Amino acid sequence: MGSFVLNPRAGLSMKICRTVQEVRSASRGARMAGRKVGFVPTMGALHEGHLSLVRAAKKQSEVVFVSIFVNPTQFGPHEDFSKYPRTFDHDCELLQTEGVDVLFAPAVDEMYPKGAITFVTVEGLSDKLDGVSRPGHFRGVTTVVSKLFNIIEPDLAFFGQKDAAQVAIICRMVRDLKSPVEIVVCPIVREPDGLAMSSRNAYLNAGERRQAVILRKSLLRAEELFRTGERRTSELVQAAQKLFAQDPSVRLDYFQIVDPDTLEPVDTISGRALVAVAAYVGNTRLIDNVILSA
Ligand code: PAJ
Repeated sequence: MGSFVLNPRAGLSMKICRTVQEVRSASRGARMAGRKVGFVPTMGALHEGHLSLVRAAKKQSEVVFVSIFVNPTQFGPHEDFSKYPRTFDHDCELLQTEGVDVLFAPAVDEMYPKGAITFVTVEGLSDKLDGVSRPGHFRGVTTVVSKLFNIIEPDLAFFGQKDAAQVAIICRMVRDLKSPVEIVVCPIVREPDGLAMSSRNAYLNAGERRQAVILRKSLLRAEELFRTGERRTSELVQAAQKLFAQDPSVRLDYFQIVDPDTLEPVDTISGRALVAVAAYVGNTRLIDNVILSA
């Protein structure tokens, strides 16, 4: 049986499920009662960005499921899986205050039982943007998200535009696999100085935290050039690169302008274009993006 946590504000209880069987019976129960199931997958260390998805799910569905699972297959061998922030008790408090109905927090072998050898790959998209410097990352994401979709069978699933490549890849996976789920994309939530909220911001020391706004600044610079009529992406990229060159302590991974659905590079912006940036501030890899529309 799952455990329950009292929700002091709403006087409701949040069910915490650790096994596939428990969460599946909770979601089937909700659906059989005719209730629309909304789902927010996360890796925990929750902040306002995650909570904005939960609030959107509360608005658009009748029962809200959230998962917290630090998914090992989306971390490379030299990445931060073991030191990824884990703040489970605090996360539970936040989720119960938001009035979440069910939290699914499985152990690794519940999601990847011994002998699991099946993976889901969105060919041709998963090697773009972050897929270049994080090989295998998106294969891990699409594999775990399809498992979670199979387990919870949500009507709606909520993702943040913060991870723009992830959004494109999940939408393509759902389309190609005919998954009966609607993907809802929510806007990026930022700190007052413009830094996109991220669980990884916790790694930044005070100096790095100040430097980190350069990602946002580079996007604003590109946006400004675009507003004044520049449509050649090479010019926008060059302006951003110049900005990064002024701060050698931040290492640019990529600054690219691509089609938001196919993630293919764009030369001249005619419709919608995704401007995406990734950079290492100290040892912390941060990402951000903006959509431009002509
Ligand atoms: P995680 O990084 O925990 O993010 C969970 C969700 O919160 C993602 O959809 C992400 O885009 C969204 N999010 C994070 N920061 C945000 C911000 N500042 N504004 C808006 N939304 C934000 O993304 C993952 O986990 C994992 O890859 C996952 C999909 C759970 C699969 O393991």
